[in-house]
Amino acid sequence: MSRSVLTVADLSATEIGEVLDLALQTKAGENSCPRSLEGKTALLIFQKPSLRTRVSFELAVDNLGGRALYLSPPEVGIGERESPEDVGGVAGRYCDLIVCRTFDQSNLERLAAASGVPIVNALSDWEHPCQALADVLTIREHGGTAGRTLAYVGDGNNVARSLAIAAAGEGMDVRIASPSGYELDEASITVASQRAVGSGGSVTAIGNPDEAVDGADVVYTDTWTSMGQELEAKQRLEAFDGYQVDVDLVGKASPDACVMHCLPAHRGEEITDDVLDGPRSIVLDQAENRLHAQQALLAWLFG
Ligand code: CP
Ligand code: NVA
Repeated sequence: MSRSVLTVADLSATEIGEVLDLALQTKAGENSCPRSLEGKTALLIFQKPSLRTRVSFELAVDNLGGRALYLSPPEVGIGERESPEDVGGVAGRYCDLIVCRTFDQSNLERLAAASGVPIVNALSDWEHPCQALADVLTIREHGGTAGRTLAYVGDGNNVARSLAIAAAGEGMDVRIASPSGYELDEASITVASQRAVGSGGSVTAIGNPDEAVDGADVVYTDTWTSMGQELEAKQRLEAFDGYQVDVDLVGKASPDACVMHCLPAHRGEEITDDVLDGPRSIVLDQAENRLHAQQALLAWLFG
């Protein structure tokens, strides 16, 4: 049966651990990159722009011996030119795997049902599971996950949702600070909290960014205006006033805290240049780990 990763919760905390262990071993050269996709074709369907996700998936497929075919936003039109069922049904006849970046989470579910091949979520409005795998991998490398505190400051969005669930499953104390009306939904907090029960972590929604960051080991933020929300940009800029990750806010964290951002950053909005480019920032390690985490995920799915 084909196994899809539409949300980060499609992988148990144990399975995420297996993927990350594999990523660390391969990255360290302890085992050679498996040829798990030899003779296989991955179709990358992207309905939104991408630098990191597209490049890292193309390289991962290539490193695993497979072939990647990329379809850019204007080319497919899931739900516009053709229904998700028709796209999935056709793509499943040509390809062994679909990596898809889309708007509505239901597009992924419908592709999965119609295609019969594994679907990997390369970002939807709801989740960004591959980002979360790379993020947790990066935190493991920078001081470890279990028992440490992650403060997410900003929009309760796709990145926050996947990150909270993955980090809670690794035993982190996750604090999320968002302005009123932009909080992570209760159902996602519950999923993350359930993961925390098994791992010894915790999940707390805190309105005040200073309180969330107080003594934290990792400070994380993402854009206030995600792809597809451009018309709300002005209103969001006002709503997120006071939630910028700047030197003062980072100064409230642990003295050796790391700063993370999935990128792309809106410099001067959710994060200042001096923090993003400063000594605490691990954003390039994080970006690099997209490759290692996704390569391990595909090797694990096809292993
Ligand atoms: N972080 C991330 O997903 O970046 P891209 O949008 O460039 O893929
Ligand atoms: N939340 C952002 C993440 C980009 C990688 C977005 O969805 O645009």
